[in-house]
Amino acid sequence: MAEKEEYHQVSRVTRSKDDAENYYDRISVVYDWLGGIFERKHAEKALKYLEIENGEIVLEIGFGSGHCLQRIALSVGVTGKAYGIDISDRMLQTTRERLEKAGLIDRVELFNRDPPNFLSIMKPSMRFL
Ligand SMILES: C[S@@+](CC[C@H](N)C(=O)[O-])C[C@H]1O[C@@H](n2cnc3c(N)ncnc32)[C@H](O)[C@@H]1O
Repeated sequence: MAEKEEYHQVSRVTRSKDDAENYYDRISVVYDWLGGIFERKHAEKALKYLEIENGEIVLEIGFGSGHCLQRIALSVGVTGKAYGIDISDRMLQTTRERLEKAGLIDRVELFNRDPPNFLSIMKPSMRFL
C-alpha cells in the first residue's frame, strides 16, 4: 500500500516546453540506456500499480524511447489501445521504430507536441501513465 501512495505525489515542472523538447531530442539516442539505469525501476513500479488488462485504453504522457508504451501495447492486446504523447520528435521516431519492430504499431497511436486533434481521443474509461 505504501508503494502505491508513493505515486500519488506530484512535483512541479520548472523548465519550459522548448527546453524540455531540446533536451530530450538531444538525449534520445542514449535514453534507453540512461532510462535503464536511472528510471526503469520507477517505470516498472508504475506499470505494476496500473495492472493494465486486455481491452483497456491507456495514455502514456511522455513516453520517451517507448519502453513502457511497448509493455502497455502488449497488455492492452488487440482489443485495447495504447496512446502516447511526447514533446520530442526524436523520441517519437525512436518509439515508432521500436513498436514497428515489435509488431505492435497497430495497437498504438503516437502524438507529438500540442496536436490539434488530441482531446478527441479522451475517453472516460481511459487510464494514464
Ligand atoms: C523521463 S522521460 C520518461 C520516459 C518514459 N515514460 C519511460 O518511463 O521510459 C520523459 C519524457 O517526457 C517527455 N516530455 C517532457 N515534457 C513533456 C511535455 N510537456 N509534453 C509531452 N512530453 C513531454 C520528454 O520528451 C521525455 O521523452
